[in-house]
Amino acid sequence: TGQVTLDTGFVNTASCVSSITYIDGDAGILRYRGYPIEQLAERSTFLESSYLLIHGELPTPAQLEDFTSRIQHHTLLHEEMRRFFDGFPRDAHPMAVLSSAVSALSTFYQDSLNPFDQEQVEISTIRLMAKVPTIASYAYKKAIGQPMLYPDNSLGYVENFLRMTFGVPATPYEIDPVAVKVLDMLLLLHADHEQNCSTSTVRLVGSSQANLFASVSAGVNALFGPLHGGANQAVLEMLQVIREDGGDVAKFVSRVKDKKDTATRLMGFGHRVYKNYDPRAALVKKAAQEVLGRMAKPDPLLDLAMQLEEIALSDEYFVSRKLYPNVDFYTGLIYKAMGFPTTMFTVLFALGRLPGWIAQWREMINDPETKIGRPRQVYIGYGARDYAPIAGR
Ligand code: CMC
Repeated sequence: TGQVTLDTGFVNTASCVSSITYIDGDAGILRYRGYPIEQLAERSTFLESSYLLIHGELPTPAQLEDFTSRIQHHTLLHEEMRRFFDGFPRDAHPMAVLSSAVSALSTFYQDSLNPFDQEQVEISTIRLMAKVPTIASYAYKKAIGQPMLYPDNSLGYVENFLRMTFGVPATPYEIDPVAVKVLDMLLLLHADHEQNCSTSTVRLVGSSQANLFASVSAGVNALFGPLHGGANQAVLEMLQVIREDGGDVAKFVSRVKDKKDTATRLMGFGHRVYKNYDPRAALVKKAAQEVLGRMAKPDPLLDLAMQLEEIALSDEYFVSRKLYPNVDFYTGLIYKAMGFPTTMFTVLFALGRLPGWIAQWREMINDPETKIGRPRQVYIGYGARDYAPIAGR
């Protein structure tokens, strides 16, 4: 049936047409629906950009008000679903808890599972946007043994999430407006990135006409890995290792270049598409300097990260391979400064990527050209051979 071409890792194979996100990796350009990421980061908000990604245009004031208030009013989890968290071990990774809980949304919200019913898709969109922050904060509360707080619908999206995560019933939670603004921007910067590993997973699962919750939960699992969303956790762990080893950045860089240990990479560096500075990394670096600069005792890991970047950017190994810092390089330092444990970092990436997954799934399901995703293979196993009875093996 014709020639099959091998493209491991889909380096040069397009799987769909899309009008959502544009990347020019050589020039370091990223745009959502045509709008440059720098303008959105400075002037838009996470919810407004989510609307843009999902619906294609920036909302009017009335549309934004409606979108925001619908999300605000769906933040509560089904009470039975709150109990779902009791069954997980305390030391479970919150990404594993998040993907399971998102998958479980299909069991609790069975009235919004039809992928071809526009109204149902709209409700599951709102439910996901509203409930994933609640789920994420419960995954954290479970791990630290604190009570899960109910959402407060009078609060903004990020404020509500921070309060549910860091608040306790015994004392009123004081919201830090700088943390809210910075986290909102970080979520916005992660909101979509065209056909990355998790988004392609969401599309592939959805191409079988699986519902939005099932498809997004598969995306969360794809994001979990250290070469994708898990890199933000891995960067901080790497910086800690360098620090504990005496802070010798040059030594670590030579270990990476050595390639003896193939698992040792400079985490937060390199990208399949960007062969230039990741425009998101530039914005995150600026935010990291601002946030960490406010702290009474600056984090020594920031200094290590900046040294690492400087050495790598002038080193032949990284220069010749066009390896630059990516979005994950500086985010962890900000999350740490905000009080998040490292295991929550990838969960924050998932919160940010959610509108992108939803937008891409919706584009896929509405595209008449969509077929079930079904790659071919090049078979390299045995030819036909006869079954040998067990006694003779
Ligand atoms: N440190 C050291 N060497 C690297 C790195 C790195 N971070 N990234 C790539 N290389 C080398 C790699 O060894 C290879 O060298 P050679 O040509 O000698 O074999 C060359 O650069 C090309 O790398 P590749 O593995 O073919 O590139 P890829 O497009 O398959 O991988 C990547 C992209 C992001 C998985 C990879 O750069 C990587 O592992 N980076 C570290 C993990 C990371 O930060 N991931 C987050 C990505 S951005 C956000 C996200 O998607 O979640």
